Amino acid sequence: MTTAKRILVTSALPYANGPIHLGHLAGAYLPADIFVRFQRLKKRDIVFICGSDEHGVPITILADQQGVTPQVIVDRFHEMNKNAFTKAGISFDNYSRTSLPEHKALSQEFFLKLYEKGHLIEKSSLQFYSPKGQRFLPDRYVEGTCPNCGYDRARGDQCDKCGKWIDQTQLINPVSTIDRDTPVLKATKHWYMKLGDFQEMIEAWLDTKTDWKTNVLNYCRGWFKEGLRDRSVTRDLKWGVPVPIKGYEDKVLYVWFDAPIGYISSTREWAKKIGQPDRWKDYWLNKDTRLIHFIGKDNIVFHAIIWPAILMGHGDYVLPDSIPANEFLNLEGEKFSTSKNFAVWLDEYLEKFAPDPLRYTLAVNAPETKDADFSWKDFQARNNNELADILGNFINRGLTFINRNFNHQVPERGNLEAPDREILAKIHESRDTIARNLENFEVRKAVTEYMNLARLANKYFNDQEPWVNLKQNRAKCATTLNVCVQVSRALAVLGAPFIPFSSEKLWHILNLSGSVHQQNWDDVGKLEIPSGYQIGELQILFPKIEDEQIQPEIDKLQKILNRQKSGAISTSAPVVEKKESPVDDKISYDEFKKVELRVAQVLQVERIEGAKKLLKIQIDLGTEKRQIVAGLAEHFQPEELVGRKIVVVANLQPAILRGVESNGMLLAAESSDGKLSLVTVIDSTDNGAKIR
Ligand code: 2FM
Ligand code: ZN
Repeated sequence: MTTAKRILVTSALPYANGPIHLGHLAGAYLPADIFVRFQRLKKRDIVFICGSDEHGVPITILADQQGVTPQVIVDRFHEMNKNAFTKAGISFDNYSRTSLPEHKALSQEFFLKLYEKGHLIEKSSLQFYSPKGQRFLPDRYVEGTCPNCGYDRARGDQCDKCGKWIDQTQLINPVSTIDRDTPVLKATKHWYMKLGDFQEMIEAWLDTKTDWKTNVLNYCRGWFKEGLRDRSVTRDLKWGVPVPIKGYEDKVLYVWFDAPIGYISSTREWAKKIGQPDRWKDYWLNKDTRLIHFIGKDNIVFHAIIWPAILMGHGDYVLPDSIPANEFLNLEGEKFSTSKNFAVWLDEYLEKFAPDPLRYTLAVNAPETKDADFSWKDFQARNNNELADILGNFINRGLTFINRNFNHQVPERGNLEAPDREILAKIHESRDTIARNLENFEVRKAVTEYMNLARLANKYFNDQEPWVNLKQNRAKCATTLNVCVQVSRALAVLGAPFIPFSSEKLWHILNLSGSVHQQNWDDVGKLEIPSGYQIGELQILFPKIEDEQIQPEIDKLQKILNRQKSGAISTSAPVVEKKESPVDDKISYDEFKKVELRVAQVLQVERIEGAKKLLKIQIDLGTEKRQIVAGLAEHFQPEELVGRKIVVVANLQPAILRGVESNGMLLAAESSDGKLSLVTVIDSTDNGAKIR
């Protein structure tokens, strides 16, 4: 259906409860970005939409753990993830947030529409409840043994081991994730979507999707076989979109009800931002739109069954045209694990390395039809042996030769001989192959074809031996170099979807005007750089990545694996038992008064070289800014701390720790399992406020 007038591409809205890691990037973001960048070069009308998924239990659980409001959590991670995506070159047209009022209003509108059309039904059921906390425990607030595969840490909504979506109450040995208590069952009322009413329609609709990935279609067939059942779309929570029905004031919409509506509210926000507030309608309300949802495989049921049912139930909107769902990426042969910090975090990666080698490595290893793996050694090899030694080398050799022997000017193109014609023809062939692959969401094949073109270009340069012809046959030598320049230009444009920063750099090295990202894909292969054209200064496109750069990264991951194997990191549910001794030594109030406790806000955090436990923290104490050093490096990522309102002992004598001055001390609590949590106060507290 590439003939549609418009394309709307979305990437799954990531939960704003943690940083993005490479597994996320490889699944729903990089493949989408490559596709979108290609379509932009094809001059298609396309919009690329994403944003933070800011509701749901993953967020409130973290907020509870850290003793802050969910808003603090989502503000922190929204900003962090948005920046990391930008730095990685993920070129969203809009990156919104589902906590915005406009999104809430739209989600409520959807709910009411389904309600009015009779697609929702109210039911009473028994749900897990914590008598101690006097609250219901929806979704991930309960863990237990999976009734399907026996995994003993299945979450209340999904089992991470077998991937099955679970009804909480079927968990064996359920425990509350707040305090590991056994929850009780208590009656509550909720609204359910009558999914069964849509089964026939969804099946018929999916039957038309013969070109979809088999993983998506097979997964859906499994659901149809079991029969679609009513699914609750409200939750007993305070954080989320309020249910717009009387008597439901203390409940919110289920996060998976409002999250996909975020695709629409983000498009609406984009339209407003570009000054055409109705423009979103062209995409969402017009059947001549190709709606494409890039997701990871754990999101298939929501995008291929539940979301289409919501859209069908509403009636006004287009349905997804494609749902390219990717499999998972592993790390050094193991599963990514956020809780064990067994991950490569995108923002940390980008502090040390350039984005393009990562984009290239993840594209070559894209988890399209089966799980794939990222390893640092492979990353280094892809950069050094392919980007640098093939692509970079070709550009470098050709342009250095011109600069040295033709005074920075593109040499005259004379008669084209067979090898010249072949490589020029190969540009067209590669252009069309890459286009075909990308239209089919086959990023791996596309990027491999791209590198093959560079490989052939290198071979052409070698075979033509311009260094020999420089003296023996200068016209032939000039022709070779002229052809090399044309191939270089093609490599810049064809590489733009995969390695956008390096392609742009190459564009400028070639001294071409505008941006490589504004070029026309179909013009690639035209002999556009004229003889005599002055080319720019050569720069290294892909510096080599040395062993010393990646070894610390490998060691870090290995250490986590070793600790896990030795049992230092628990793989089963942690039992938190407080084992502090009772308080007996008493002090007088006057003694306590000597300690000046103040509220401070963390401004900036850095690691200290050679001190793996310490962080150097700049704080704002209201009347002054200070530096303190704290032993938090093994417990927090620096960016997790920025912005937090902490409590510090402000009148402690300065000390030098590992050569760095520390002017104060922050307060933290240590659990019996060694976990630290910061003592924090609510955000509206003034910096410098005294604690008594
Ligand atoms: O799995 C996740 O990270 C979800 N936050 C994805 C939501 S996708 C869409 F529906 F918003
Ligand atoms: Zn399971």
